Amino acid sequence: MALKKLLYKAKVALKDLPDHHKKRLRAVGTRAMNLVPHKGNLEILCLKYGGDKLAQGYLPHYQQAFSPIRKKALTILEIGVGGFDDPHAGGESLRMWRDYFPHSTIYGIDIVDKTSLNEDRLKIYQGDQSDPMFLNNLISEIGTPDIIIDDGSHQNAHVIASFETLFPLLADDGIYVIEDLYTSYWNSMGGGWSNGAETGTSMAMLKQLTDAINYRYIPNRNSHHIDNSVVSVQFFRKLAFVYKGANVTRDPDHVMQDLAKETQYRQSGER
Ligand SMILES: C[S@@+](CC[C@H](N)C(=O)[O-])C[C@H]1O[C@@H](n2cnc3c(N)ncnc32)[C@H](O)[C@@H]1O
Repeated sequence: MALKKLLYKAKVALKDLPDHHKKRLRAVGTRAMNLVPHKGNLEILCLKYGGDKLAQGYLPHYQQAFSPIRKKALTILEIGVGGFDDPHAGGESLRMWRDYFPHSTIYGIDIVDKTSLNEDRLKIYQGDQSDPMFLNNLISEIGTPDIIIDDGSHQNAHVIASFETLFPLLADDGIYVIEDLYTSYWNSMGGGWSNGAETGTSMAMLKQLTDAINYRYIPNRNSHHIDNSVVSVQFFRKLAFVYKGANVTRDPDHVMQDLAKETQYRQSGER
């Protein structure tokens, strides 16, 4: 769309201007964006409100995952409001979701008090994403979330702690998204890389979920409470979607037959 491209270029060009020009042009740009009907287009909404989800390349993936459920009345939780230490800054992605999901309520959490950014259908709580007690109390208050997006500290221990607490509390057909997964490979963020054998990183946790999907077929595997509730894990660059659902099989006899073949093979000493 030509208008969209033009507005994007204008936004990039703004970077090198003096602050007072920037401010004035931004105000004009925002007024212009208000005139563009978004029609469920996340790029238009991101250009309107700001945030880095467009530049990070996440929006086409969000669009694909969320467009079938856009008109539903959902409870959506995003970890990380934005604006970091400034209590009055941030909220860009929350506003984008609020407009994109017209019948939903959007909740944000941040370690910094961002409650001054509360608006209609947009409510923010202050708390630490790695604190299970805060997260449990939050869900008791806001109800079962249908979508959770982790765009918080991106510290591996925090990402894992939030997932372990919140995934079991997500709706049975919910979607859990984790952004900026490059930090999984960074020592400075509590991650690392040992040729794929590393443990305790965000990506290691997500890769284990892919085995949970197939848990029935893995002989001698220790069971995990999550085994029956992950139906799909979708990876994109820096981004993953975990789909919750009933991981049931229509044909348990068939599974047993397949497993029996493998057990027999192992016992025959052929390998
Ligand atoms: C990348 S920004 C979020 C951007 C926002 N989601 C957007 O797209 O517009 C990350 C935010 O996470 C917050 N944060 C950092 N550590 C946190 C923690 N332990 N718990 C909750 N929020 C945290 C920061 O204060 C910051 O505002």
